[in-house]
Amino acid sequence: MMRAGIILAAGLGTRMKSTQSKVMHTVAGLPMLGHVINAMRDAGVDRIVVVTHAGGDEVRRFADGMGAETVIQERQLGTGHAAGCAAAALTDFSGPAVISYGDMPLVEAQTFSAAFAAEEATGMSIAGFRPADPAAYGRMVVDADGFLNRIVEYKDASEAQRKIGLCNAGILALETQDLRRWTAALKNDNAQGEYYLTDVPALAKAEGIPCTVVTMDAIEAMGVNSRAELAAAEAAMQTRLRDEALENGAGMTAPETVYLSFDTEIEPDAIVEPYVVFGPGVVVHKGAHIRAFSHIEGAEIGPGAIVGPYARLRPGAKLEENVHVGNFVEVKNATLEAGAKANHLTYLGDARVGKKTNIGAGTITCNYDGFGKSRTDIGENAFIGSDTSLVAPVKVGDGAVIGAGSTITKDVPADALAVTRSAQKIFAGWAKDYRARKTAEKAAKQKGK
Ligand code: UD1
Ligand code: CA
Repeated sequence: MMRAGIILAAGLGTRMKSTQSKVMHTVAGLPMLGHVINAMRDAGVDRIVVVTHAGGDEVRRFADGMGAETVIQERQLGTGHAAGCAAAALTDFSGPAVISYGDMPLVEAQTFSAAFAAEEATGMSIAGFRPADPAAYGRMVVDADGFLNRIVEYKDASEAQRKIGLCNAGILALETQDLRRWTAALKNDNAQGEYYLTDVPALAKAEGIPCTVVTMDAIEAMGVNSRAELAAAEAAMQTRLRDEALENGAGMTAPETVYLSFDTEIEPDAIVEPYVVFGPGVVVHKGAHIRAFSHIEGAEIGPGAIVGPYARLRPGAKLEENVHVGNFVEVKNATLEAGAKANHLTYLGDARVGKKTNIGAGTITCNYDGFGKSRTDIGENAFIGSDTSLVAPVKVGDGAVIGAGSTITKDVPADALAVTRSAQKIFAGWAKDYRARKTAEKAAKQKGK
């Protein structure tokens, strides 16, 4: 059975005070909308329609990149109207659909799966949760038989109804063809003058279709309307990701200080010290050791590699097994082959460093000439002396040695020595004479005062 997913994201999100669409703000390195799309896909959703406002180009590009369709809701006439726009885009689809919001990044696939399972049994389901503070959420009025009677929006609710603790999370599963019919029948004669999606269950009940209530965790149901709520969602997501990483065998001594991305992969027995930040696209293989205060994104760290403290790995950094990258070393779009070492104060960009090659302290690949990027290729078992500038494009052959302080502008053949610094001169006794002269000058000056 094909399943559809509808994500409502046409709200303007004005409380974020941002020029960016609300659902594009990231949680653990992925726009909130991306989290919802991923969770729906993991719940077996084949087709996803995202409802956006007319100015949501950024949202449309992102959804397209994730294989989701988009439909524009010209005016924000309410959640029921928004769902109706999506239903209209799904005219060629029949089967169950789940509806959720683009600003609820913490909803897990299992909740969507539970909503589908309950829908399959009775024809419709809705997710409820019990927040510590029910605030302005819609309240769920449940019948004696346990099925939903109806939802009352806070602004339309009586004092007695406002005392109900079970709240509407906004997740609804139903047949797509029913959704089309019911959204078309909605009225906006309520406190907010909006077409409420929450009036749909009452329409279903009138047709004899009972709505099953599935319950979900209050943290999962957390919605983001402000910067403070975005930070709270980030904290909750980090807790979830850290727990998963530990469960999968990653070693972390202070997990509460480690920032993970939605897709960070840490294999068992890899160790992550405190205060490490992972951007998107990182894989850490088994037995690797990431030392404190490192910043890592778009990088693959091989088995047994040692990184940091204070290392920076940028997109395209690939460290093969047992590579060492030490303090204040930055690596971008560069492969360090097995056993290579760059232990101190170095920049390696657009480069290859061959097996077992040692990169001395202060080595810089000069990969940018102000207009374009060029590559540096360093062979195996080479030795790059400290404070070397490698002006790309340039190649250093296998087994070559570069003398410290050199600026390398031409290819260096295998097993050769290249040195570009000027010859050293010695002036015997010069320092001693200098000190004696300066000391005498200073004494004469003080006497004259
Ligand atoms: C809604 C529910 C409420 C529930 C709460 C949970 C309704 C009428 N009320 O209230 O029962 O407890 O969510 O958070 O559904 N949107 C559109 N187009 C619109 C209006 C909204 O796409 O015309 C989108 C928004 O971008 C947002 C979502 O729908 O992602 C929810 O809209 P919002 O206005 O925040 O609904 P609430 O008043 O919070
Ligand atoms: Ca809301």
